Amino acid sequence: MNERMMEPVTIVIFGASGDLTHRKLIPALYAAFQQSLLPEQFRIVGFARRAYETESFREMLAESLRSFSRVETDEDSVAAFVEHVEYFRGDISAEEAYGRLRDLLSDGTRYPENRVFYLSIIPDLFETAVRSLKEAGLVSAAEGGAWTRVVVEKPFGRDLGSARTLNGALLRYLDESQVYRIDHYLGKETVQNILSFRFANAIFEPVFNRTYIDHIQITASETVGMEMGRGGYYDEYGALRDMVTNHLLQLMCLVTMEVPSDLSADAIRNEKVKILRTAKLDAEQSISDAVFRGQYVASEDASGKRLKGYLEEDRIRPDSDTESFVAMRLMIDNWRWAGVPILLRTGKRMAKKTTEIAVQFKVPPLELFQQVECEGDVCDVTKIKPNTLLFQIQPNEGIFLRLGTKRPGMRFVVEDVKMDFSYSGTWDGTLPEAYERLLLDVLHGDSTLFTRSDEVEAEWSLVQPILDHAAALKPFAYPAGAWGVEEANALFRGCEGTWRNR
Ligand code: BG6
Repeated sequence: MNERMMEPVTIVIFGASGDLTHRKLIPALYAAFQQSLLPEQFRIVGFARRAYETESFREMLAESLRSFSRVETDEDSVAAFVEHVEYFRGDISAEEAYGRLRDLLSDGTRYPENRVFYLSIIPDLFETAVRSLKEAGLVSAAEGGAWTRVVVEKPFGRDLGSARTLNGALLRYLDESQVYRIDHYLGKETVQNILSFRFANAIFEPVFNRTYIDHIQITASETVGMEMGRGGYYDEYGALRDMVTNHLLQLMCLVTMEVPSDLSADAIRNEKVKILRTAKLDAEQSISDAVFRGQYVASEDASGKRLKGYLEEDRIRPDSDTESFVAMRLMIDNWRWAGVPILLRTGKRMAKKTTEIAVQFKVPPLELFQQVECEGDVCDVTKIKPNTLLFQIQPNEGIFLRLGTKRPGMRFVVEDVKMDFSYSGTWDGTLPEAYERLLLDVLHGDSTLFTRSDEVEAEWSLVQPILDHAAALKPFAYPAGAWGVEEANALFRGCEGTWRNR
């Protein structure tokens, strides 16, 4: 175990009464506590406006742990864990609260001087919180002595301009090394494995380029709609800002970036930034050749149950043209990827919850064999199927390679088979939650899996043309429960195949 990870720490969670704290942060910290991964001396201070007492707050957290913990909860360890938690009532926008917080934390024997401030609050308050922390003397120097780290949740801005302003504001009070911009996809085990898979095995890298690859398609589809009061936030942001300018672009970077010189945070992030800066929307004539937005409309599920349309959902403006689905085609202008379309799509109320990256190879130059698709003994002749390397991020986490192989029998026909590595078939136990890994990395001071300021800005630059031309990109309708906007198949011009809807 790295010693830095075990340094005593006080973790102050701003927005402690919110959903994220109860569903993700506290369960993640509890899992670390259960596995003895937290330092012996740690304190968690929940900062929020509601009128709770520490006792009632602890009881609420214990209840959340019983519902949301990934690791098994037992009453003794839950009780031991919540003993480390305290509640601090305060208004994030009121300066007096920070003075009181400083007084509280000044008792170094109870509150270790290394501090993590976790901002699980609306982005409008990021700057106020950081400025007030700094002015109250709660932010230490970037180097030497006790440390301060500030974790910032998404959304990080709503366009390039606001992301720049926000970075400017944060970096006025903090050093870049003290800022941890969270993208929880980077904490997923399978996402981290993309780099190991690519760079720890010699067989794939030589064919990961324009000579062999036809296209790459990345899907993050969800079946949920606007449950749990999410509509208010979502309608302001939409699928592009909510999922693409962070999770999907990060997946794209990991699967296309060059090998970093080492595994340091900066070496990896430098390579990602290069990809983001060379990627462009592939708009042949106009932006509508490169981007499709969509909004789900009412439909019925398989059991005949009516599914609401987006505009009927709670807290959605009745005339909203926010997209609940977006698909786009990008090109990366470098030697490795020139001419290889990169297709991204994401949406709510789609047919299935899945996140996958499919790297599709070109079809062989000569079609010597007939390809068949069989069910039992009944086979249909199909077009020859190219190889696909699939990174299945979730669920059924694994990596699969689709190959053509001779079907046993007298005829020389080829059928698809899958070579697979699945986490569940290889290792026991559930995979750690993204937040477990990320929170421990913050305690450890490792920012590899967090986004740097230039990276965030490069993400926004890439999608800014879509925001600028939103008026020309009216959302197409798709039935709730479908695979999104059918028109988005047009993005596959010149490619073999279309969206993998499975
Ligand atoms: C969040 C988005 O960042 O990611 C949500 O704000 C989305 O809208 C969620 O539902 C998806 O995360 P996961 O880990 O369930 O794929």
